[in-house]
Amino acid sequence: MSTLQNKTALVTGGSRGIGRAIALRLAADGARVAVHYGSDEAAAKETVARVEAAGGQAFAVQASFGTEGAVDRLFERLGADFALDILVNNAGIASTHGVAEVTEAELSRVLAVNVTTPLLVVQRALPLLRDGGRIINIGSVASRMAVPIQIGYTASKAALESLAPTLALDLGPRGITVNTVAPGVVRTDMTAHFLAVPELAAGVESVACLRRIGEPDDVADIVAFLAGPDSRWITGQTLDASGGTWLGPMQPGA
Ligand SMILES: NC(=O)c1ccc[n+]([C@@H]2O[C@H](COP(=O)([O-])OP(=O)(O)OC[C@H]3O[C@@H](n4cnc5c(N)ncnc54)[C@H](OP(=O)(O)O)[C@@H]3O)[C@@H](O)[C@H]2O)c1
Repeated sequence: MSTLQNKTALVTGGSRGIGRAIALRLAADGARVAVHYGSDEAAAKETVARVEAAGGQAFAVQASFGTEGAVDRLFERLGADFALDILVNNAGIASTHGVAEVTEAELSRVLAVNVTTPLLVVQRALPLLRDGGRIINIGSVASRMAVPIQIGYTASKAALESLAPTLALDLGPRGITVNTVAPGVVRTDMTAHFLAVPELAAGVESVACLRRIGEPDDVADIVAFLAGPDSRWITGQTLDASGGTWLGPMQPGA
């Protein structure tokens, strides 16, 4: 497949997990991919090496989101002549407390990394984005369901999801589409601690219509669709990528 030939993509958090799968898939479709990472340089290099081993083009770029000036540093490192067709705002962090315990510091951090940074990345990318481009934000089903121990995360993903309609309206005249992909639970480092508990993993499987845990490629394939030409008439929307998580009560005996 070469639907993204001559296109350039930036995948934030492309070093690991869902972001790595997205970087590999967009590169396999022909895009040259900037693999952003925060602290795991070895993982970013491995993503780049895997892209290159498959015959694609990629390079790594570092910026620690949530620190002062991080977005400026990202774009300085990408260079003044960096032109972009596809921006995937994937980098994100979880939070770990409920309403009774969450601190102002935890809320600030999760909102800074999951909401403020993607918005600033879009702002900085605007002059570099070619007309007809794509912006894809990685949200979560957590924006539409209760996750009591992660109240900061649910708020951040709802806020991130809210950006797409406004950005879509603003950027529509340039032919740029803006959408959110909302995964359910996916097997990555972010979820490894609770998926290691068999009862919790079984619970996650049981609330998805398709009765399994998501894999990074499940999400990457949907992002690739939104990044490609066939999605040209979808903008300002959220696409669920959760195997039908929590659509209703389980059927008796299922
Ligand atoms: N896994 C799930 O079940 C799930 C479900 C719904 C939505 N999501 C969303 O999908 C996205 C990716 O999740 P994942 O599960 O793949 O996570 P992950 O395995 O923990 O990977 C997170 C990625 O984001 C980068 N990152 C995290 N904090 C950063 C920071 N402060 N500055 C720069 N980069 C940072 C990491 O880079 P370094 O390692 O280099 O720091 C890494 O590449 C997130 O937005 C997450 O909320 C995940």
